[in-house]
Amino acid sequence: MNPEMNQRIVGAAPAGASDRESAARAVREMFTSIAPRYDLLNHVLSFNIDRLWWWRTARSFDAILKRPEARVLDLCCGTGDMTFALRRRAGSATPQILGADFSHAMLQRAAAKAEKGSGATLGWIEADALRLPFPDEHFNLVTSAFGFRNLADYDAGLREIARVLAPGGECGILDFGEPGGLLGHAYRVYFKHVLPAIGTMLSGVRGPYAYLPASVERFPPPDEMLSRMRQTGFREASWTPYTFGIAGLYRGVRNG
Ligand SMILES: C[S@@+](CC[C@H](N)C(=O)[O-])C[C@H]1O[C@@H](n2cnc3c(N)ncnc32)[C@H](O)[C@@H]1O
Repeated sequence: MNPEMNQRIVGAAPAGASDRESAARAVREMFTSIAPRYDLLNHVLSFNIDRLWWWRTARSFDAILKRPEARVLDLCCGTGDMTFALRRRAGSATPQILGADFSHAMLQRAAAKAEKGSGATLGWIEADALRLPFPDEHFNLVTSAFGFRNLADYDAGLREIARVLAPGGECGILDFGEPGGLLGHAYRVYFKHVLPAIGTMLSGVRGPYAYLPASVERFPPPDEMLSRMRQTGFREASWTPYTFGIAGLYRGVRNG
């Protein structure tokens, strides 16, 4: 591993943010501003592939979700689609599943959806992913879908996930990637130009949809993310590309 990697804080940097606190504030305000239209925009801009990605991610953790006593945290849950996908995979098992996010407006929408079905207990909590209000070693599974990339400090985010996971507990981070080749080129044109234009038009808010491609560009590539995961106490770290690497799932097992 590159020793310099430890010396710089790597995380989201929305326009105008100068430190961790202002970056987090800007991210929270941004998601709060698009909360009313978030689901619609998500499905339109991803052509509904996001549903497949949440389902695949949830399915990867079947073994934990089917355990009746399991405790599951979906970090940066937003309007709850990843959380609901986890709950659906639990089937008739009865794990406790919590969705956490620091945007009240996003959580309100998640709670309003309150899908029925499955024996899992579902709850929502307003919390910052870098300062979680949970004791050490509390959860068996922590997931995060398209949220981790927005943290102002990725290593601090990984450390906090490791802290709240029980030894042997698993972590699953689903986020965007940058596919290579010809498809990568076409995708970048869509992601950098078409998506921000449509996003701004539909949400009526300028900014968030320009931030999105910039944040994906800043996000460490898979080999670096895996290295950071190993350094923060995860073993069996792996990355599985979804849809040619447009998205992908990072997995790791908490040491100990
Ligand atoms: C792109 S949305 C993803 C929402 C949902 N997981 C999904 O897949 O649709 C990112 C979410 O991360 C939340 N978020 C970003 N940084 C956070 C932090 N430090 N603590 C808690 N939530 C955060 C935002 O409020 C937003 O709701």
